[in-house]
Amino acid sequence: MEAIARYWEALQNAPVRPEVEPGAIDRMMPREAPDEALPFADALEQLTALVEPGLVGWQSPRWHAFWPANGGPASLFGDMLSAGYGQQGMLWATSPACTEVEARVVDWLRILLGLPERFSIDGQGGGVIQDSASSATLLAMLAAREKAGTESVREHGVGHQRWVSYVSELAHSSFERAAMIAGLGRLSVRKVPTDALLGMDAHALDQMIREDKAAGLKPFFVGATIGTTACGSSDDLRTIGPIAKSEHMWLHVDAAMNGAAALCPEHRAMHQGIEHVDSWCFNPHKWLPVHFDCDVFWVADRNDLINAMSVNPEYLKNDATEQGGVIDYRDWQIPLGRRFRALKLWLTLYTEGAEQLRKTIRKHIAFSRGFADKLKQLDVDVLVPQTLGLVAFAAKDNDSTEELQRRINHSRKTWLTHAEIQGRRWIRVAIGAWRTEEHHMDQLYKEIEAAIKTDV
Ligand SMILES: Cc1ncc(COP(=O)(O)O)c(C=O)c1O
Repeated sequence: MEAIARYWEALQNAPVRPEVEPGAIDRMMPREAPDEALPFADALEQLTALVEPGLVGWQSPRWHAFWPANGGPASLFGDMLSAGYGQQGMLWATSPACTEVEARVVDWLRILLGLPERFSIDGQGGGVIQDSASSATLLAMLAAREKAGTESVREHGVGHQRWVSYVSELAHSSFERAAMIAGLGRLSVRKVPTDALLGMDAHALDQMIREDKAAGLKPFFVGATIGTTACGSSDDLRTIGPIAKSEHMWLHVDAAMNGAAALCPEHRAMHQGIEHVDSWCFNPHKWLPVHFDCDVFWVADRNDLINAMSVNPEYLKNDATEQGGVIDYRDWQIPLGRRFRALKLWLTLYTEGAEQLRKTIRKHIAFSRGFADKLKQLDVDVLVPQTLGLVAFAAKDNDSTEELQRRINHSRKTWLTHAEIQGRRWIRVAIGAWRTEEHHMDQLYKEIEAAIKTDV
């Protein structure tokens, strides 16, 4: 614990990016593991000295790259308890506590986010913790494929049907990964152009589905995004949803980062059209102070998922499963085994309280609005729409933007990553690290200002 406390304390001033050459850390390690045991304190000292120079400031208050990957003290204890209890909750029978606490805690989250009762474990739906949003997307695609198949895909494979799915051109690459893993091929994921608000163009979606059907393809899945990685834009479920439903396609929502904002009722516009949605996921490990790995994935009908995933070998058979009425989470995920990840969510919800989580999200959104306004005073374009905890800005052309980004990142005091949106390069500022305060934003502004004013 002391090592962690010391590391957390040092984050205030430490560079966000370490200065290490590829291979430098490996060169400091012996080629073989030790034969003789070291006293624990000596081993720990050696370990922290080895790794800390190569750590990246994901927990830094000046973290603005990609998205945040938060982790607060309560969540840390939750993960320690998970390791200490050492549960393997693949079946209800192998850990009733792991199973029942998880099912209830994710239902608390559903209620806190204002997600509909259709997704509740008390009805036909239910939620489950996955490692990441990528796994949730893959599962949604597998469930969709099983539901849409003319014969069971889980039994006979994908056969000769030429499946296609649709996502916006700004959707995360995990949709392509899912199609690759599902045996459908990366090119089966059609990229729908975005509209003026950078959401999926519903008219184009409709058109593409018609053309694909006319060409003999089998549209089966639409992946909508609430909070794209590039710029936080969202697809409008009110326009996409009816198209997906009229074509009997599965509609999955990837709300990895921005889904958490629905804790605040004023940010629930993203739920409009949710009545058309078959599955929804968001990552508490992004915006909430919950450690990676923690994605929550809800389905409106859990049998769709179980039908796609369940196998029942003799060695897993047990009375509780046979009698029914219990959740066996092995059927809701890719691996068989699973650990007790709900502990970190439970402890976080109990020790923060929903109100504190809302306050933090509102604070970040206020920071990002203020930051976008301030940036407008500089010689840069600020992306519209500016969304929740993300601000994107650009210099006059792509080369100057790249050069500006290089200058900002040069000091390693922060790390800004970039995205390409409709052919233009933008520098992203993700605001959602739980240690970030107003003075960190002021400092970042000054660094950007200085980089703009610095002649190359
Ligand atoms: C919109 C979106 N979806 C999915 C992902 C993938 O997240 P994960 O690492 O949880 O698989 C990301 C990651 O940043 C994302 O921004």
